[in-house]
Amino acid sequence: MELKVGSEAEISTWEEVTLVYNAALRQMNTRIEILIDEFRQVHRYNPIEHTKGRVKTAESIVKKLKRHGYDATIPNMIKYVNDIAGFRIICSFTPDIYTIAEMIANQSDLKVIAVKDYIKYPKDTGYRSYHMVIAIPVYLSDRIIDTRLELQIRTVAMDFWASLEHKIRYKFEGNAPGHISRDLLECSHMVSALDERMKELNEEIQKLMNSEEEGEKAWKTV
Ligand code: GTP
Ligand code: MG
Repeated sequence: MELKVGSEAEISTWEEVTLVYNAALRQMNTRIEILIDEFRQVHRYNPIEHTKGRVKTAESIVKKLKRHGYDATIPNMIKYVNDIAGFRIICSFTPDIYTIAEMIANQSDLKVIAVKDYIKYPKDTGYRSYHMVIAIPVYLSDRIIDTRLELQIRTVAMDFWASLEHKIRYKFEGNAPGHISRDLLECSHMVSALDERMKELNEEIQKLMNSEEEGEKAWKTV
């Protein structure tokens, strides 16, 4: 029996929502774990610090639908909420983000639906991160469902900023005092400068290590 290619639109119950989007997260997690293993063993450099995944709670999906003026129905969830499954990849340095994003985009059974580069174009809040909405195949008993997943790829420093900003925004319900928002924006510029310095430092270290290795090789060939 050939597996039928299904669509997310066929998902009709909350149980199916949790099944399919959890499966999509597990698929993504395994792919990233394989990349981490390969980087460690083959390249002796691992650009990924850690990862986090979550399926959005029903409550927060409903809140989002209402905010956008949609009724809280399963078809509306599937159609309008891109981040039912969310996966975050925390990298060491900014160039690692683009390396990982490219590796993901090159996986031939994944579809890249949208990309938002908030590193090149930060949000007014100061938010910086690289976002991709992708569709990942989930194999069920009788069909394959290409399931959407929101990926957020950022450095440790960007993640530190985003989690603090999120906490503050949550606390003030989006109406933080002006000086706090201004301080956060200034911190975002500092994070950006820090990422740049750390990147340069890392490049310098890599260069030194490579020339040391070359030196070692020269000895061995004598
Ligand atoms: P929502 O913001 O989720 O309604 O979706 P969107 O379609 O506007 O996508 P966007 O790329 O703007 O945001 C997606 C996700 O990125 C959010 O759910 C947050 O997790 C994160 N994000 C976006 N902007 C900010 C921000 O200013 N601060 C923080 N801390 N996180 C943000
Ligand atoms: Mg938004």
